[in-house]
Amino acid sequence: MPGRITSLFRTELPIVQAGMVWVSGWRLASAVSAAGALGLIGAGSMKPELLREHITKARAATDRTFGVNLPLLRGDIGALIDVVAEERVPVVFTAAGHPGRHIERFKRYGATVVHVVANVKQALKAQECGCDAVVAEGFEAGGHNGMDELTTLTLVPLIADAVSVPVIAAGGIADGRQMAAAFALGAEGVQVGTRFAATVESSGHDDYKRRIVEAGEGDTVLTYRGILPVRALRNPFMASVEREERERGMTRERMMELHAKGRERKGIFEGDWQEGEMEMGQSAALVRDVPPAREVVRRMMEEFHAARERLARSG
Ligand SMILES: Cc1cc2nc3c(=O)[nH]c(=O)nc-3n(C[C@H](O)[C@H](O)[C@H](O)COP(=O)(O)O)c2cc1C
Repeated sequence: MPGRITSLFRTELPIVQAGMVWVSGWRLASAVSAAGALGLIGAGSMKPELLREHITKARAATDRTFGVNLPLLRGDIGALIDVVAEERVPVVFTAAGHPGRHIERFKRYGATVVHVVANVKQALKAQECGCDAVVAEGFEAGGHNGMDELTTLTLVPLIADAVSVPVIAAGGIADGRQMAAAFALGAEGVQVGTRFAATVESSGHDDYKRRIVEAGEGDTVLTYRGILPVRALRNPFMASVEREERERGMTRERMMELHAKGRERKGIFEGDWQEGEMEMGQSAALVRDVPPAREVVRRMMEEFHAARERLARSG
């Protein structure tokens, strides 16, 4: 499916598997890339040398393009960037923080750089500093959200109207019908998180994957609003955070105290239902099984083409 996104990433398909903490290691990223889409290694939960190991293993598993997602607010981001640049990873997705500070480092060896944004101002800034594309991530998304609470349906056309670089839609997209909708809104690609978190190759714990499959509408909650919003399953821990926020409000200090205690690892990687943070998006309600990543890509494309044909017929 030729387009600006596939030519930027040198992939067959305009689907990106999100780089997710505790989920997206070399197994998932290489399986997705081998299926013709773009797999991303999530560096956010890795120490620099572990990231290097995952890059090496992904290279051994596939000769297709894959990338790395770097959350720029991490304390040791400099060391992670060193690994990405030394390994000359061809595609770099940055999230949070300011890509302008680091972009030169990636551009020097010819990488494609994409920044994740949650409003028009951030999208314009990313374009201005030389990013090749932006991910427009709406409020439905799993994991860390922007402050603006804009839904994907509103955010994508706003950003598509504002920038000239390609827009990749994210947040709430778990099937090909939604992918077709994102394209109708002006996106040229989609970034998919929660759907890929529940695949065979995801590093998430089996109980975390099962919870995604069992989640229904309204089962996720957005906490730490206005500070560092996070969307996750409403398990006992997140329900207690939600209650505390409602009753007493939330401060940055209290959030750090609650969130920083390895909660993501506990929830996603160890499957701790009581104490962990099981990050997932509203689209968990659409996820009904744990297939291989290749099957997710195949289904999405089949549903995408079927949706487009249905629309053409109904016109
Ligand atoms: C478990 C989990 C971990 C995530 N970790 C990251 C991360 O490390 N960096 C990042 O930019 N986004 C992260 N995200 C957000 C995804 O990149 C993606 O934009 C989002 O999942 C899209 O929404 P969806 O979950 O509805 O598909 C994470 C999402 C989930 C569900």
